[in-house]
Amino acid sequence: MGTRPAVTYTLGILCIILLIVSIALLVTKVFPHTVDNYIKKDVQLKNGTAAFETWENPPPPIYMQFYFFNVTNPDEVLKGQKPFLEERGPYTYREYKPRENVSFMDDGKIVSAVTPKTYVFVPELSTGDPEIDLIRTVNIPVVTVINMAKYSSSYILLAEALLTFESEGLFTTRTVHELLWGYKDPVLATVHKFMSDVDEYFGLYYKMNGTDDGDYLFLTGKMNYKDFTQIIEWKGNKSLDWWTTDACNMINGTDGTSFHPLISKNETVHFFSSDLCRSLYGTFEQELAVKRIPAYRFVLPSEVFANASENPANSGFCVPADDCLGTGLLNVSVCRQGAPIILSSPHFYQADPKYIDDIEGMHPNKIDHETYLDINPLTGLLVRAAKRVQVNIYVEQVIGFRQTGNIQSLVFPIMYLNESVLIDDSSAAKLNSIILQTDVVTAIPFMMMGLGILFGLIFIILACTNREGTEAERAPLLNSS
Ligand SMILES: *[C@@H]1O[C@H](CO)[C@@H](O)[C@H](O)[C@H]1NC(C)=O
Ligand SMILES: *[C@@H]1O[C@H](CO)[C@@H](O)[C@H](O)[C@H]1NC(C)=O
Ligand SMILES: *[C@@H]1O[C@H](CO)[C@@H](O)[C@H](O)[C@H]1NC(C)=O
Ligand SMILES: *[C@@H]1O[C@H](CO)[C@@H](O)[C@H](O)[C@H]1NC(C)=O
Ligand SMILES: *[C@@H]1O[C@H](CO)[C@@H](O)[C@H](O)[C@H]1NC(C)=O
Ligand SMILES: *[C@@H]1O[C@H](CO)[C@@H](O)[C@H](O)[C@H]1NC(C)=O
Ligand SMILES: *[C@@H]1O[C@H](CO)[C@@H](O)[C@H](O)[C@H]1NC(C)=O
Repeated sequence: MGTRPAVTYTLGILCIILLIVSIALLVTKVFPHTVDNYIKKDVQLKNGTAAFETWENPPPPIYMQFYFFNVTNPDEVLKGQKPFLEERGPYTYREYKPRENVSFMDDGKIVSAVTPKTYVFVPELSTGDPEIDLIRTVNIPVVTVINMAKYSSSYILLAEALLTFESEGLFTTRTVHELLWGYKDPVLATVHKFMSDVDEYFGLYYKMNGTDDGDYLFLTGKMNYKDFTQIIEWKGNKSLDWWTTDACNMINGTDGTSFHPLISKNETVHFFSSDLCRSLYGTFEQELAVKRIPAYRFVLPSEVFANASENPANSGFCVPADDCLGTGLLNVSVCRQGAPIILSSPHFYQADPKYIDDIEGMHPNKIDHETYLDINPLTGLLVRAAKRVQVNIYVEQVIGFRQTGNIQSLVFPIMYLNESVLIDDSSAAKLNSIILQTDVVTAIPFMMMGLGILFGLIFIILACTNREGTEAERAPLLNSS
């Protein structure tokens, strides 16, 4: 007798207390709730928070890669044969998109900002020089003029005369730099003389370098963490270029750079894309790790691009209402000032096979052509993403225009882009340490339970040996413990 029973009973009581407390903590989820509340409060657009700094000036490098399709058989295509396309690229640009003119409103519930984008060429990540490399592709200004004139016979006469005078055909050969950043187009220059609101220059990214696409109003997440960086208004009415017009002010979701914290697998993440002209959404596909950071991968579900009979929600995008394109295509002509532009995934990935078969040189595959977002579910931080979009133009034979020859009606690929981002090492290290801390905190009840079970086992051993063993046998055990 002596200290022995006292130790035994203390262990027994500790065991019971630890077990009760740990079970209570686990049942009431106190620690996960504390972590969640901390994260919800911290992930908010508020001057001084890390989330605000990341949103205002995203540290990881963003790369925009362009791939062009070079037409190898233009004469045969005009005779009605299949186009044979060769992919060229990437031409890679580092994209900077800081937030500017940031100002808080409505007691910190709303923040307004513009996002000017700057593109700087990165030769090391490119296959050629965009100022030298020539690409033969569909002449978008010519197709646009034909498309706009085709409904009136007098316009057809006028437009045909203009195209013939300028000796412009359905195909043009320009440098990558010209096709992206703009060149003075002879046809547009003539039209400009009569209609001054038509720009003389044409380029897929004309006037996009260093300019913003208008004022955005975002929710800060102060009222509800789920509203974090939700866009509520876009004054994209500057009509800077053919990508942006009022007709396309359909907004929903975030701008795809940050998401609300505590994302769950059954959520759909809405991201607004001003160059896609509509909001798209991603659904959960799989769990993975990016630089050891746990992430959920969200991908565009196939129904986003599904044809109207498969997904009636998409009939809103069949313009006119009964003129719907097949699966995998998005007609954005209304947003492109009359240019019959159709968007798809690169190489018509996930599109109706007839579009792939119509063109020689399409090799769709999931790894290179899928759009995905890898989001850390705890913080909502985008850790890796690739947005892949192909720009196509609808070409057809228009009676009255010799330029269109005997061409088949085709959704003709012009180029595709891969806008990608990967979290930088220092942000990844910071995020990993936050995740580790929250893991430790949420593990506390389990540690208590483990300790309780250990004490319980020792208690049982001591209690049993106390009854059956002799004092002499027990002494060393007690002394050593
Ligand atoms: C954030 O705070 C800093 C320093 O107090 C100030 O200079 C800056 O203008 C503030 N930013 C905004 C958007 O209010
Ligand atoms: C875009 O503008 C920046 C800064 O003015 C310049 O350094 C860069 O070369 C430009 N990019 C292109 C593609 O013209
Ligand atoms: C694209 O095709 C044209 C015409 O055949 C050729 O001159 C040009 O070099 C090709 N461009 C590239 C980048 O291979
Ligand atoms: C916007 O997103 C919500 C879900 O967040 C959805 O219910 C709604 O239909 C979307 N609206 C449009 C126009 O896409
Ligand atoms: C829509 O897609 C489905 C499945 O791919 C196909 O069976 C159907 O014929 C398509 N409808 C139209 C109008 O293209
Ligand atoms: C695309 O939409 C426009 C109307 O905005 C329509 O005139 C055109 O026929 C459509 N294109 C195709 C290929 O369905
Ligand atoms: C797109 O970008 C990602 C990330 O930089 C890269 O791994 C991938 O190879 C690129 N894919 C294509 C098709 O350009």
